[in-house]
Amino acid sequence: MKANELRKKYLEFFKSKGHAIIPSASLIPENDPSVLFTTAGMHPLVPYLMGESHPGGKKVANIQKCIRTSDIDEVGDNRHLTFFEMMGNWSFGDYFKKEAIEWSWEFLTDSKWLGLEPQRIYVTVFKGEEGIPKDDKSAEIWQAIFKKEGITHEIAKNEKVNDTTRIIPLGKEDNFWIAGATGPCGADTEMFYDTDPQQGALNGKFNDLVKSGRLIEIWNDVFMEFDKNAEGKYVPLKQQNVDTGMGLERTITVLNGFDNVFQTEFFQPLFKEIEKLSGKKYSEEENTKSFRIIADHIKTATFILGDHKGITPSNVDRGYVLRRLIRRAVRYGKLLGIKDSFTFKIAEIVIKMDQDTYSELKENKEFIINQLILEEEKFEKTINNGLKEFEKMSRDKKISGKEAFILFSTYGFPFEMTKEIALEKDFKINEEEFDAEFKKHQELSRTASAGMFKGGLADTSDETKKLHTAAHLMLAALRQVLGPDVYQKGSNITAERLRFDFSYDKKMTQEQIKKVEDIVNDKIREKLPVKCVEMDIEKARDEGAMGVFGHKYGDKVKVYSIANFSKEICGGPHTDNTAELGNFIIQKEESSSAGVRRIKAVLK
Ligand code: ALA
Repeated sequence: MKANELRKKYLEFFKSKGHAIIPSASLIPENDPSVLFTTAGMHPLVPYLMGESHPGGKKVANIQKCIRTSDIDEVGDNRHLTFFEMMGNWSFGDYFKKEAIEWSWEFLTDSKWLGLEPQRIYVTVFKGEEGIPKDDKSAEIWQAIFKKEGITHEIAKNEKVNDTTRIIPLGKEDNFWIAGATGPCGADTEMFYDTDPQQGALNGKFNDLVKSGRLIEIWNDVFMEFDKNAEGKYVPLKQQNVDTGMGLERTITVLNGFDNVFQTEFFQPLFKEIEKLSGKKYSEEENTKSFRIIADHIKTATFILGDHKGITPSNVDRGYVLRRLIRRAVRYGKLLGIKDSFTFKIAEIVIKMDQDTYSELKENKEFIINQLILEEEKFEKTINNGLKEFEKMSRDKKISGKEAFILFSTYGFPFEMTKEIALEKDFKINEEEFDAEFKKHQELSRTASAGMFKGGLADTSDETKKLHTAAHLMLAALRQVLGPDVYQKGSNITAERLRFDFSYDKKMTQEQIKKVEDIVNDKIREKLPVKCVEMDIEKARDEGAMGVFGHKYGDKVKVYSIANFSKEICGGPHTDNTAELGNFIIQKEESSSAGVRRIKAVLK
C-alpha cells in the first residue's frame, strides 16, 4: 500500500464514523513556549482536550506533521526519524474507550481497510501505578474483541508473552501518555504488530520483543482524562477525551512487509539521488548510516523551511535545530565524498513527493531551496576555519567547554559536531562547562544543551490568557500605527511575557512604540468585552477577521472580537474582558529576520 492510499483510507474511515477532517496544523506551535516543534497530533488540540469547543465538533481526525529532535542522534538505526506524519482521531468529551478501541481494530483488520492479520496483533494496557488505577475497561474490551475473532486472549502476567497471551498490562513508563511535564494526560492502550511470525510463537518479556524489532508499535489510543498540574497532581478534566496516534511511516513499513522505515517510498527516491551524487551504494554497510542521516535530516529541514513561518538557520531556538540538521547532513555528505552543494537537490525530491499533500512546500519552494544553498555556502566557509581552529585547540588532545563554545559562537560549529569529531578522535569535551558558557550568552537558554527537546506543554494559566488577549490588541494597534501591511508572523507566550513577530521592514521609532502602548492601554481601560463566535472560514474572511499569514484552518473557525477594535481567527483561550489585563508595557522592539520585527511585552 502506498502512503497516499493509507492517508486517504484513514481519513475516509473516520469520516464514516462521524469525524470532521481537519488539516495538519503548523509544525511551529502557537503560544506554547515549552516546545520548539509540534511533536504529536495532540499539540495543536490541547485547548479542546481541556474543554474549549472545537469548531469541527467533538470528533475530529487529521494527519499532523510532527518533528521530534530528541532522538536526533539515534537517526541512522532502523527506525528513528526526526520528521514523521501522525494520523490521529480525537474525541473531545464524546466517545471513549469502547468506540476508540473497536474502531482501531476495525480499521486495522477489516479487509475493506488495512486487512492486517488479527493474530499478529498484540496490545498493551495500563496496569495502574502511582495512585492512578489500572485500566480494566480497556483490557475487557480487547478480550471481547479477541474472543469474537476466535484467537487467544489471555492477559499477560509479569509483562511476559507466550502463545496464549494477547493483552499485556504495563506501567506508567509505557502506557500512560503526557506530552511534557504538565497538561492533559491519561492511560493508553498500544497496538503492536508481529513482524515475523515465521519465528514461531512469541516468548519472553514483552519489551525485549519490542527492542529486538520483532514487535513494532503501530497505534496508540490515549484516554485523556486528567490534567497534570504544576504540583504534579492529576486533576480530572471536565471531559473524557480520546487522542490517538498512528505513525504513517511505520504503518506503511508494516503493510508492505518491510523490516525498516527506510525501505519505504518515503526514502528510496532520496537514496537514489544520494547514490547519484556520491557514486556510493546505500546497500553497502559503511554507507547506510550516512544515507539515512542525510535523507532524514534534509527531509525535516525541508518541512521546517516550508512551514510558512519563515524559520531560517540561526544559532538559537528553532533556527538552531534547523542549522544543525542541515550541517549534520552536509557533514555526512562529505563523508560520502559529495563535493558540491547538494542538499537542495534532495529537498527538490522531497518537495515533489509531498507537495500534493502539503501545498506549503510548493508555495515556499524557492525559499526552501535558497535557504539550503545559502546555509551550505556559509557552512563551507566556516567549516574550513573551524576545522583549523579545532586542530589548534585540540593539540593537547582535549577541548575545554569554553573552547567548544568559541567554536560554536565564533566559528559556527554546532556543539554536537564538535562532540562528534572529538569522539572520532577519541577525546571528550566538558559538556557542563560548555552548557554554563552557553547559558551565560543566551538570553533565553532554550536549546539542546538545556534539555529543550524533551517537550512539554505550557499551562493555559490566567497570565498566558491575558497576554494572549493583549497580543490581539497589540496587533490591531500596530496596524493602526504602522499601516495595513502589518501581519502577525508568529507569537510565543509564557506566563511572564509575550513575544510577537510581525511583518514590517523598519525599526519602530520611540513615538510609534509609545503610541502602540497607549492604544492598547486605552482599550484595556475601556473594559471591552472579548467575544468568540464560530463561523465558516469564508464568512470570517468576508468579515475581515485577521489570521496568521499562511495558516491553515479547518472549514469552521473561531473568531475572537474585541468590540470593533480587533477581530482575529484564533483558537483561544482569551480573557472575557480587556479590563482583566492590567498595564501593557513594550520592553523591546528588535529585528527578528528580514522584513520581520519582534516585540517583547509584559503586563504589569
Ligand atoms: N499522543 C499520542 C502519541 O503521540 C497519541 O503517541
